[in-house]
Amino acid sequence: MNTEKKHILVTGGAGYIGSHTVVALIEKGYTPIIIDDFRNSNKDVILRLEKITNSEIIYFNVACQDTFRLKGVFSQFPIEGIIHFAADKAVGESMEKPLMYFDNNFGSLISMLELAKEFEVKSFVFSSSCTVYGDPKQIPVNEQSPVSYNSPYGFTKKVSEEMIEQFVKSCPIVKATLLRYFNPVGAHESGTIGEEPDGKPNNLLPFITQTAAGVRDELTVFGKDYDTPDGTCIRDYIHVVDLAEAHVAALEMSDSNEVNPKVFNVGTGKGTSVLEMIKAFEKITGKELPYKFGPRRDGDIKEIFANTDKVNKELKWTSRKTIEEAISSSWTFEQYIRELRKEA
Ligand code: UFG
Repeated sequence: MNTEKKHILVTGGAGYIGSHTVVALIEKGYTPIIIDDFRNSNKDVILRLEKITNSEIIYFNVACQDTFRLKGVFSQFPIEGIIHFAADKAVGESMEKPLMYFDNNFGSLISMLELAKEFEVKSFVFSSSCTVYGDPKQIPVNEQSPVSYNSPYGFTKKVSEEMIEQFVKSCPIVKATLLRYFNPVGAHESGTIGEEPDGKPNNLLPFITQTAAGVRDELTVFGKDYDTPDGTCIRDYIHVVDLAEAHVAALEMSDSNEVNPKVFNVGTGKGTSVLEMIKAFEKITGKELPYKFGPRRDGDIKEIFANTDKVNKELKWTSRKTIEEAISSSWTFEQYIRELRKEA
């Protein structure tokens, strides 16, 4: 694909993975157009993106379901690809507010697919999740592993994948790629964009960095009696900068998708336990992390990591960054955010 001024719509482009993907797109010569209603992201991110990329960022403060206004954006720019990140993503919250998850996650997807059809957008990349593997019986999981769900959030990802599958049958001009992310961690090397949870973090690494920064008293490790070498859960932590690059690779490859949609695991293929993450954090930062063991968290699975053969071979993408780089950049970002909030 000749990337010269190709316009790519990035929904949720001010969010954690979206913002890193915007950087990756600009580095590759694309013109990203951000669609974000900032319900879960900070407007400030746009300015930080402009600094990182030294370019003007085009963005629209609009919800994905506002097709009327979005048609205006599509009429203004020749959009050749859509990367659809915008969605609610907290497992626990989805248990309390399933209808909000159905409305936002399905509603946004439907309007983006409608627009893709109307404006004949050739590539559509969708943020899926390893959550679609539920509690897997066999590890590592590959793209053929059985899919299920154990939360309304997981349900929205599984059903969204199926919706896209059905949709492209009726509209084969749109080539779709479904990326099943494992656990995204880390931040951009500038330390100015990263994961910025609103309130108390659900995810492990932001909780660790906030604890080390003194925002939280201590980390609770959820469960110590899992059937794993150190008794804590194992996940496949993928650096967000690597993950962002996988989106660009998916966009470039989707032109030639014979199978439609194509689905890929995006992980490192390596499992790391909660205790290993804590130890690595302490080693890298030289800070002692206050933590205690607590009961298992509802809905947590013992272990998951990716088989990455397909993504390595077909997308020609491999994760390059280490967990140490992820931890170190997250810690830099945490300190940046603390300073920023102090000033505000
Ligand atoms: N953990 C703790 N203490 C904490 C936070 C997390 O011990 O304060 C543990 C969890 O129990 C788990 C591991 O750290 O063992 C990772 O937990 P995260 O919440 O960071 O990530 P999850 O694997 O639970 O969730 C991630 C994504 C979800 C996605 C899911 C799919 O955040 O969006 O993977 O498995 F659905």
